[in-house]
Amino acid sequence: MCGIFGYVGAPTDLGGAVLQALRRLEYRGYDSWGVAVGVNGHIDIEKQSGKISGATVAFPPSDIGFGHTRWATHGAVTRANAHPHLDCTGQLAVIHNGIVDNFRSLRDALLAAGHTFQSETDSEVIAHLLEDEIARGATLTDALALVFARLEGLNAIIAMDVRSRELVAAKTISPLVAGVGADGIAIASDALALVGHADRIVYLEDDQLVRLDKSGLTLYDRTSMRQIPPPFVPLDRDEGNTGLDGHPHYMAKEMAEQPAVLARLAHESETSIRGLAAAIQDSYGTFFVGCGTASYAALTGSYLFSRIAARHVNFVVGSEFKYHEHFITPESLVVALSQSGETADVIEAMHAARRRGARLGAIVNTEHSSLDRMVDLRVHLAAGPEQCVLSTKAYTAKVAVLLLAAHALAGTYDQGRDLVLRAADGLQRMLDDGWTAGVRDVARTIHRVEHLFVIGRGLAYPTALEAALKIKEVSYIHAEGFAGGELKHGVIALVAPGTPCVVYAPLDETRTDILSGAMELRSRGGYIIGISPEADPVFDVHLPTPDVGDAAPLVNALPAQMLGYHAALLRGNDPDKPRNLAKSVTVK
Ligand code: BG6
Repeated sequence: MCGIFGYVGAPTDLGGAVLQALRRLEYRGYDSWGVAVGVNGHIDIEKQSGKISGATVAFPPSDIGFGHTRWATHGAVTRANAHPHLDCTGQLAVIHNGIVDNFRSLRDALLAAGHTFQSETDSEVIAHLLEDEIARGATLTDALALVFARLEGLNAIIAMDVRSRELVAAKTISPLVAGVGADGIAIASDALALVGHADRIVYLEDDQLVRLDKSGLTLYDRTSMRQIPPPFVPLDRDEGNTGLDGHPHYMAKEMAEQPAVLARLAHESETSIRGLAAAIQDSYGTFFVGCGTASYAALTGSYLFSRIAARHVNFVVGSEFKYHEHFITPESLVVALSQSGETADVIEAMHAARRRGARLGAIVNTEHSSLDRMVDLRVHLAAGPEQCVLSTKAYTAKVAVLLLAAHALAGTYDQGRDLVLRAADGLQRMLDDGWTAGVRDVARTIHRVEHLFVIGRGLAYPTALEAALKIKEVSYIHAEGFAGGELKHGVIALVAPGTPCVVYAPLDETRTDILSGAMELRSRGGYIIGISPEADPVFDVHLPTPDVGDAAPLVNALPAQMLGYHAALLRGNDPDKPRNLAKSVTVK
């Protein structure tokens, strides 16, 4: 996935404006970036490997241009593979977010026809295919409609031709939104990048194509090429609180925001959460779907509904849903959990569920996202923008929603609200200096290791999976989470003297068994990091957490978030933009 942005309008320092828009889209990938503007009938291009950071570009004023920030899928992280990509004439350029699944056969045919390629990317085939259609007399708009129909995969494309001075764009699943402002028209992967360029916007649907030129914005049905009146909505996205608020990193800021986010959810989201509980009540088979951190929140939800409401809820990882969908019926409810609301694996799963007639729900942070727009019911997390690639506050917010929904189903909502508020208080106490110093000490002890294990039982098992992911994503230590009972069935072979083992030991029915597991690890020389309301002699070091019953996952995430954060700093990593990752994954 990548971030793409384009603009046509009053002549301006367009290079700078495009770069600023790309900075807002960098959460979608930061392997390389590129900007191109049309000047006097030719295309000026600047592209570089690496993050945008303090980069600048110096182009003459221009009235048409676009840019791209990349998450590499096809072709190494090089300047040549950075977008935009040109056709052989050099007067047509393309930026692309997605994967052209059939690019090899297309590329071979283009090479055989005499085209010259400058990159290893799948994306460059689009530029040369457009070149051929235009050479056959097509307009850029018709050319894109023809070429898009030949591409397989999830794609969002913007093409620029400086001869006709227009941008045209089309998409499947990968998001695109266009907007009109006082000085011009713009298009981007996320409405956030249109702030300052547009006041009314239109979200492109899969079977649509849009042209942007001096005459304005024209929307088409891509198959019939019939014009469609754009269903504009006001752009109500503002940058929101996207500053660091005095924190050294977004990860630190967003960890610190968790108590307030939970308290607000407990006080302000009762109606939508009760709506979700009622839909689960009425469904014949409910499925929680999510990817990455969201999948662990979904798995925690299936444990919470069993414990609190004696209700079985299925859990499916987003990218595996299509291999599981066969028993989905019109009586089913499929609930997707997603911070961004744009994760392609989740959107695809929801399309598959829709095709089988299921009712769709979402627990989502980004309003107006593709997921938010396609479902029948939703709970907004209202956690504010999450800019660190690692998900922290959106994770605990999702778990809190599921805890409250389970209590709503059980008819004990007030009890659930009290638990979430106790967890919020407990988290606030954990965030004070004394407690965090304890975590920093543990990070100092373990930050040079290459392997680390995390175990938990029951409700703490999905917490152990999430904890391992947090440590992995940011410190690059190979951390693995296990169900405590699985240790003796193979995993314990990996433990050697000094191997750090994080053990979640809440004061519930799992404590005795998980402490035996910790004993087994210790007898193999494991270094036991106990996360629990109460200390135990088996722990080499104890990170205390408040006892908040079934809300334990809400307070048990922070120790792992914080441990990963400090280990990352000690290893010299960027906690907000870890290598090889991106915040929103819009490719399969
Ligand atoms: C990954 C993010 O790209 O996608 C993770 O790095 C996230 O933090 C996962 O958990 C799922 O994203 P979302 O937006 O669907 O919750």
